Amino acid sequence: MEPVCRQARPEDYEAVYRLWMDSGGIGVTSLEDSKEYFERFLQRNQATCFTAEADGRPVGIILCGNDGRSGHIYHLIVDPAFRGRGLARRLLQLSLEALRADGIGGADAVVFRENPANDFWEQEGFRDRPDLIYRDIPLKQDNVWMNRSKRPGDYPKL
Ligand SMILES: CC(C)(COP(=O)(O)OP(=O)(O)OC[C@H]1O[C@@H](n2cnc3c(N)ncnc32)[C@H](O)[C@@H]1OP(=O)(O)O)[C@@H](O)C(=O)NCCC(=O)NCCS
Repeated sequence: MEPVCRQARPEDYEAVYRLWMDSGGIGVTSLEDSKEYFERFLQRNQATCFTAEADGRPVGIILCGNDGRSGHIYHLIVDPAFRGRGLARRLLQLSLEALRADGIGGADAVVFRENPANDFWEQEGFRDRPDLIYRDIPLKQDNVWMNRSKRPGDYPKL
């Protein structure tokens, strides 16, 4: 069945979590990627997060939000069985259109340097910025990586 894109919903979480954990390329953390924070993010950014659904289950998602200044994209993923048919591009375009409609002038995505998905972002017009250094700071000790060095499918129970 051809996937249909719609706004993301809290009940998508379980399927989406498995997609994130089973895939390379996405860094899943215990706090930001918990069910509670997924719901929090959707509440704050309802208009810009989209799920692709096929046969009643999520097969792709984009988390996108804005802080009133610029847009930020996280964890774009498509189920391997549905890749290569323009689904990620559709999800991305929906989010970018929604950002534009909200008056936002630009968006960013942080991508692991070795991720082959960099070619996707390049293709979609996202520039590499060698003039910048990405910096962050941990604010909570209990926020840990969930899927680093784990085999696909080997994820903690929810
Ligand atoms: C990256 C990802 C979301 C792309 O999903 P997709 O639905 O297969 O992508 P699309 O079919 O919409 O591709 C759009 C364009 O990007 C290109 N592209 C997509 N993935 C690519 C890849 N891994 N390498 C090179 N080009 C790629 C496609 O060829 C296509 O260009 P074309 O129309 O000129 O052929 C998917 O590979 C994925 O889920 N990867 C694992 C998770 C991940 O790393 N996400 C990114 C986190 S920052």
